[in-house]
Amino acid sequence: MLSRPGKVPLWRYAQLFRNDILPAQPARLYRPWMAEFRTPFFRSFLLNQPELIKTVLKERPDDFPKSSRIGEGLRPLLGHSVFLTNGETWKRQRRIIDPAFEGGRLRATFPAMWDAAEAAAERLQHRTGQEIEIEAETRHVAADVIFRTLFSLPIDHEVAREVFAEFRRYQRSQPILNLAASVPLPRWMPRFWQRDTKASAAKIRRFITSLTAARRAEIDANTAPDDLATNIMATQDPETGAVFSTQDMVDQVAIFFLAGHQTSASALAWALYLVATHPEWQDRLAEKAWTLCECDFAVMSRLKISRDMFRETLRLYPPVPMMVRQAACPQKFRDRNVPKGAQLVLGPWHLHRHTRLWENPDGFDPARWQTENGQKCQREAYIPFSAGARVCPGAGFAMIEGPLILSRILHDYRIMPVEHKTPVPVAHLTVRARNGIHLRLERR
Ligand code: HEM
Repeated sequence: MLSRPGKVPLWRYAQLFRNDILPAQPARLYRPWMAEFRTPFFRSFLLNQPELIKTVLKERPDDFPKSSRIGEGLRPLLGHSVFLTNGETWKRQRRIIDPAFEGGRLRATFPAMWDAAEAAAERLQHRTGQEIEIEAETRHVAADVIFRTLFSLPIDHEVAREVFAEFRRYQRSQPILNLAASVPLPRWMPRFWQRDTKASAAKIRRFITSLTAARRAEIDANTAPDDLATNIMATQDPETGAVFSTQDMVDQVAIFFLAGHQTSASALAWALYLVATHPEWQDRLAEKAWTLCECDFAVMSRLKISRDMFRETLRLYPPVPMMVRQAACPQKFRDRNVPKGAQLVLGPWHLHRHTRLWENPDGFDPARWQTENGQKCQREAYIPFSAGARVCPGAGFAMIEGPLILSRILHDYRIMPVEHKTPVPVAHLTVRARNGIHLRLERR
C-alpha cells in the first residue's frame, strides 16, 4: 500500500517535520511500506518496507549515497569527516576508523567507561530529593565517556571542559534538525548559517586541533596512552599504508564527539525516563545491578536485562530518527518510479513502530527481544545504528556504554517521574524532549 499525500507545498513540508512533535507524525506514516512527498524542488520517499531498506543500506549502498548537501549546517564543524563523505574518501576513512571499534580494542575502553559511570553516580549524589533535568546529566556522562576513551581525559580536565561547554553553545545555536533541513535546497537559495554557529564550530576545531597535534607528538615520541585516538592515528590504511594527517583526524574527532555523545546521551535520558515510568522493570534491573562491584568487562554478560531495556529504548526513541539518502540513478520501488536525485528517507522512528511489523508497537516491553516477533523484527526492522557498510561504527561501543551506565545509576538510585511533566519528543540533532526530561532520584 502506498500513502500519497499528493503535492505538498514546501512551507507545509518544512512545517510538517520542523514543528511536528514526533508522536504527532501522521498516523498514516506508521502503516504503509512507502510514502511519497512532492515539493516544487524535489521528490522524497519514506521507505518503511524491510526489503527496500535492505536494498538501500545493505545491498546497493553505492547507488544511494548520502546527499552531498546533507548536514550542510554541520560542515563548519565536521569538515570532511566520515559522517559527511561518500565514495572512495569515505571508504578510506572507514578502513582506518573501524579497527579501533572492533572487539578486543573496544574491550580495552571498558575501564574508561567504568570510571565515567562511577563519576556520574557520584555527581548525582548531590541531586537526590529534587527534580532534575536528566538530559543535562546524561550529556555530561556521555561526553565524559568520549573524552576518557578517545583522549584519556576526564571531563573535568580543563580542555575537555572547554570543548564540552562550547559544544553546548554550538548545539543551542543549531536549528532543529529536520527532514526539511536535510534535503537539498536549490542552489540559488541563500544559506543563513548563523554567525555564532560558525564561530562556535571554529573554536571547537581549534581545541580539537591542539589535542590532536599534541597526540601526534606523543605518538612520535612513543609516549602516547593506549586509547582510541592513538589507535586511530597509528592505524595504516591496509590498502595504501597511509595514516590520517592531523587535519584528517580533527575532522574525525569532531564527529566522534558529536555523534558519540549526543546520541548516547539522548538514549540514556529516555532509558531513565522509561525505567521511571515502568517501576517493575526498574526493580528487575536494579536487582541485577549488584553485579557491578569491580571493573571487569565480564560484568557485561550479566547485564542482559539492562541490554534489553536499552535496546527497547533505542526502538521507541531512536536517537537518530531519520536518515536520508539520494538515488544516484532512477529506480523502481514498489512499481513506482523513483527519479534520479530523489531523497530516500529511512526512518527508524517510523519503522520501529510500524504497525504491520511489530506486536504492541508503542508499548515498552523489553521482554519482546526474546519472542519470535521481536527477534524477527530485530533482524529486519530495527536500525537504530543504521545498517550495512555505513552502519554506525560506535554501535558496539554504545551497547556497552548505555547498559553499563544505566545499571550503575540504578545500582545507587531509585528513579521516579515528575507529575504533569511528561516529556514530548522532538527531532533536534537527535531525539530530545521539547522541555527536557524531568525526573526525581532517591538513594536506594
Ligand atoms: C546510542 C548511541 C548511538 C546511536 C543510536 C547512533 C546512531 C547512528 C546512526 C543511525 C548513524 C548513521 C547515520 C546516517 O547514515 O545518516 C551513525 C553514524 C555514525 N556514528 Fe553513531 N550512534 C551512536 C553512538 C555513536 C558513538 C558512541 C560513536 C563514536 C564514538 C558514533 C560514531 C558514528 C560515526 C563516526 C558515524 C558516521 C558513520 C558513516 O557515515 O560511515 N556513534 N550513528
